[in-house]
Amino acid sequence: MGKQSQLKDETLLQHPVFLLFVLVLGLVVMDHFQMGPVGGVGFRPVKHDIAPYKQVMESWPRDNRSRLVEGKLEFVDQVFGPESLEFDSLGRGPYAGLADGRVVRWMGEDVGWETFAIVTSNWSEKLCARGVDSTTSKQWKHEKWCGRPLGLRFNKYTGDLYIADAYYGLLMVGPEGGLAMPLATHVEGKPILFANDLDIHKNGSIFFTDTSKRHNRVNHFFIMLEGEATGRLLRYDPPTKTTHIVLDGLAFPNGVQLSKDQTFLLFTETTNCRLKKYWLEGPRVGTAELVADLPGFPDNVRINEKGQFWVAIDCCRTAAQEVLSHNPWIRSVYFRLPIPMSYLGRMMGMRMYTVISLFSEKGEILEVLEDPEGVVMKLVSEVREAKGKLWIGTVAHNHIATLPYP
Ligand SMILES: *[C@@H]1O[C@H](CO)[C@@H](O)[C@H](O)[C@H]1NC(C)=O
Ligand SMILES: *[C@@H]1O[C@H](CO)[C@@H](O)[C@H](O)[C@H]1NC(C)=O
Ligand SMILES: *[C@@H]1O[C@H](CO)[C@@H](O)[C@H](O)[C@H]1NC(C)=O
Repeated sequence: MGKQSQLKDETLLQHPVFLLFVLVLGLVVMDHFQMGPVGGVGFRPVKHDIAPYKQVMESWPRDNRSRLVEGKLEFVDQVFGPESLEFDSLGRGPYAGLADGRVVRWMGEDVGWETFAIVTSNWSEKLCARGVDSTTSKQWKHEKWCGRPLGLRFNKYTGDLYIADAYYGLLMVGPEGGLAMPLATHVEGKPILFANDLDIHKNGSIFFTDTSKRHNRVNHFFIMLEGEATGRLLRYDPPTKTTHIVLDGLAFPNGVQLSKDQTFLLFTETTNCRLKKYWLEGPRVGTAELVADLPGFPDNVRINEKGQFWVAIDCCRTAAQEVLSHNPWIRSVYFRLPIPMSYLGRMMGMRMYTVISLFSEKGEILEVLEDPEGVVMKLVSEVREAKGKLWIGTVAHNHIATLPYP
């Protein structure tokens, strides 16, 4: 280990003198001018529960071959922020939910990508189709209008596609595509603010996540910075067309995946960097438990044919985070500094780090594939094992990454 990399791992925020300086500076300028990254947003940090970074990293297996670096970026600048990927029962696809609000599908070299579904009649080419700019802040003010499909799942029996959209809730579209029909936009009379991912139970019920009651997708960073836990796991029952709260008080619930035998489901809590299990049957029915603390921020979870679970994990955990997670007042000051978020992140020692991991049904880690500096793969959001490959989605870049597997 060279000196340089040692330095890289140190975070400025852990130096007492520097921390004091930051806090004094923060107190001096605090929010008078609302110039910091959180200026104008009702920013209310709370304590939250995150396992110590060092402890997680010590027991976390490393991929010293950096196998994710061997991945190939496909469909570059043809798909925009494809967070979730799906294949239909005829094996067509991938289907992908894009940052411009569309669900598109790949129809082979001759046809290319075609629009399969939209989530709202508000969608228009003029307003929504911003191409490669869809994944930039240029789309932010249009997202609410155009939609942002984040989770996709086919019902294998009916061929219907279910969509979790960050603005339009839970929707469904038939096998021919078109305008998706809303199924759940409210629960207990209040709007679902940020639907994120879903899975379909064999009895037809849909389990899906609503990430926050406080912030929508464009402001998702604040959910993590606040450490707020107002997210929920919800269930939609088609026979009665009703939506129910399964779990409340979650810290950025994100991906959701039923087990092969459907006795439990897994979900991620992004803010607290962990993978959790919720029992649907058996002696612990109705309870949730920890499966694993993760070395980064998890997104979607997807099962493979063997019933194992791929988890996409991203970027930027640092030891400084624990100091911040246990001391909301430091965050309250720090993120009000009139300094761009990217610098604030760097001062905390944040840097790109990408890892995907395969878990057994019992929660053991079977595979770890890393791109330790995010050279090829950054901000991965989902891993689908299909057709002898891993298909890797990303919410913030304009490509799909693939890697031969196994
Ligand atoms: C990678 O890890 C394996 C198993 O821990 C070890 O046998 C091997 O020598 C390591 N390779 C490198 C290049 O460090
Ligand atoms: C169109 O977008 C607006 C703004 O987000 C929303 O309030 C409205 O419900 C949408 N209309 C339809 C038909 O989805
Ligand atoms: C399907 O099964 C789940 C899990 O046991 C249950 O919560 C749900 O109510 C069932 N849905 C229907 C429509 O029976």
